[in-house]
Formats: sequence, structure tokens, C-alpha cells
Amino acid sequence: MPTARPYVPAQPTLGWAQLRAPARPLSEHPFSAASVSWTHLGRSALHLAARVLGLEGKEVLVPAYHHGVEVDALLAAGAHPTFYEVGRRWALDLEDLEGRIGHRTGGLVLTHFAGFPGPASQVRALADRYGLVLIEDCAQALLSTDGEIPVGTTGDAAVFSLRKTLPVPHGGALVFNGLRGFQLPPVRSPAAGPTARGLLSRVLLRGEFRLPSQGAALRRLGAWLDRHFGSPRAGRPPAVESGFDRQQLALGASPLVERVARAHALASVVERRRRNFFHLLGALRGGSPPLVNELPPGVCPLFYPLWVEDKDEVLARLRAENVEAGPGWRAFHSRCDGGEFPEASRLRKHVLELPCHQDLGPAHVAHVARVTLRALSRDRTWRSRAAEG
Ligand SMILES: Cc1ncc(COP(=O)(O)O)c(C=O)c1O
Repeated sequence: MPTARPYVPAQPTLGWAQLRAPARPLSEHPFSAASVSWTHLGRSALHLAARVLGLEGKEVLVPAYHHGVEVDALLAAGAHPTFYEVGRRWALDLEDLEGRIGHRTGGLVLTHFAGFPGPASQVRALADRYGLVLIEDCAQALLSTDGEIPVGTTGDAAVFSLRKTLPVPHGGALVFNGLRGFQLPPVRSPAAGPTARGLLSRVLLRGEFRLPSQGAALRRLGAWLDRHFGSPRAGRPPAVESGFDRQQLALGASPLVERVARAHALASVVERRRRNFFHLLGALRGGSPPLVNELPPGVCPLFYPLWVEDKDEVLARLRAENVEAGPGWRAFHSRCDGGEFPEASRLRKHVLELPCHQDLGPAHVAHVARVTLRALSRDRTWRSRAAEG
């Protein structure tokens, strides 16, 4: 255990050892796929997929439980996103989905939430029945497999995001399954400065993670770098995701990002995430009914989804205990009328994201579990008081 009170960042951090490690060939999907293209972000990959697959001017059905940038990426490609419901346990109602297919529909997007594979073969069958294109959104499912089958091998195209699973500031991947002879537009390499600053913020985050008692000093250093060089703050990697920037569509992936990705032993990233998720599942299932009851073989979990009554309250309690949890997707995209999707609304209101990433050891996860159980018992007290009142 590093100290009596560990600091648990929401995202994986970057060490010098990884920066120095030799780059190796990546044998895991999607990097090993014959048709893989590295992209600047997951959203860029989705934008390209929609363009290459001819979705311009067509309706594309997207889950009502979405981040929002994927909707923007489709809009930028000239597609018209419409939405379908996602149930409490991320379940798809295939009948509801089928009922929404109309004569203008050209494609379906299937999102694999938090690394857990969605029903790809059933949605593939539906797409085939109606002659639709299927895109798998694997932005949250890098390195996941559905049993033996890598996630993202069923759709006409699959898109991935690197920066959620690995300590990189950007990076995405696009895979076409079966499509040959497509041409992608040329892209520019991103400027070295922002990439280096993004990597530095993950290095500073590693410092804060390893030396939690120096956290304040590292944050001061981050703020100083921020003032003098426009570097992001320590402990708070830049929020690429906050908005959709069309200019990013002209960019590719930096060689620095590829290098850092290649320095990782990806199998051990999966193994550690699974170990941490199991620990949280065992420890927390009594405190809040789990959204997913099990961890099927092959899943590389992005986070542990926790159902709470009052998200802000629980997040604040975790933060007070040095645990950075993610707030989850709170808002519908402006094109999506949330009132039509009560189940997705509930997910937005109640699910937060506990870290289970590869940097965390057993002591960190035990700390997360302990403080979460404490926060949950207050959450329950609040709920029962509210019910009495
Ligand atoms: C489901 C989903 N799709 C696509 C994206 C876009 O990925 P990126 O941030 O790499 O552009 C995100 C980002 O959070 C996402 O959650």
C-alpha cells in the first residue's frame, strides 16, 4: 500500500518506464486487423466509417444512452441520427429497435458499453434483414472479446478509442470487416506540443498516484506549467471529450501515441482490469445491486458501473476520500428527446463510473470499495429519509 490514504485517479497514468519501453508489434485486435487505420480519436473513426459506408443523407439508429460526440460525428458525416432505447442493464430491446427502422434508415450503431459486448450477432441479423449497414461503437471496449471473438468483428465497421483504456491523450482505430478497396482521406499528423502536454499530464498523474501525499505539490507544479506553457494540470488530464471539434477530423494519430500504445503489454492491461472489477463486484454487490452481475470471459471492463440514488453526493464523498470516479453520461445529445427514453434517462441519472484500471493494485481497489460502501450507506440513509419525508 503506497500510503495510508491512496489517491485513485479515474484514468490510467503514464510512467517513464512505459515511455522508455521498446515498441512491440501489437498482436491484439483491432491493431492486428488487416484493415486497421489509426485515427486521431474514436469520433474521427466513426465519422470516417459513416462516410465510407455511404450514410450521408440517411437515418442512422443510435442508442439513446450515448456520450454525445458519436452523434456529432455522424452529423458531421451528413447522416441523420435517430435513437433507440437502452434498458437498465444496458439491454437492447430488439423489437423496439426493429420498430424504429423506416424507409430512410441506412444504418445501425451498436455500442458496447463499458467493455461489455452487446448482442452483435442479433443486431447483425436485423441489419441484414433490412439491408442496413452496421457500425460497432467499441470506443469503450478496446481489448474486449466476446468469448473468443474480438469485439468489433461483426459490423461492417468498428470504431475504437485508445485514450479511455490507455494513458494517451488521443488515438482511435477504425476497422472495416469485409470491405475492400476503400479510400480514406489524407490526414495531418497532430502538432507535437499538445500531444506531449497530454502525455505529460498523465505522467504528472502517475506522480500524484504514486506519491499521494505530494498531490498538492504536483497540482501546484501542474498549475505552474499550465500558466507558463499551457500544460494541463496534474491530476486532471485535459477533457478532449468536452466538445466536438470539426478541425480534429483532419488529424491522424501522433507517432508518440502509437509508440506509447506499443509499449504496453496489452494482455496484462486486460488481466488487471478484470481482477479489479471482480474485486469491486464482490465487495459492492451487497451495497448496490450490480448493473452487471458477472464478468464474462474476455471482457476488458472500462469501469465498474455503480447505481446510486444521488450521483453528485456520492461523487463528492468519493472525491473527499481521494477517489476520482466518473460522472457517467448525464445529458442527452440535443438531437435526442430524452423524454422519449425513460430507461436511458434513469441510467443517466443513476450510474457513475468507479475506476478499475490497470494501475490499481489490491490496496487501491480495497480503498475504493471501502469508501464506496461508506458513501452508499449514506446514500441509502438519504433515500430512506426522503421516502419517509
Ligand atoms: C460510446 C462512445 N463512442 C465514441 C466516443 C468517441 O471517442 P473519442 O473520445 O476517442 O473520440 C466516445 C467517447 O467518449 C464514446 O463514449
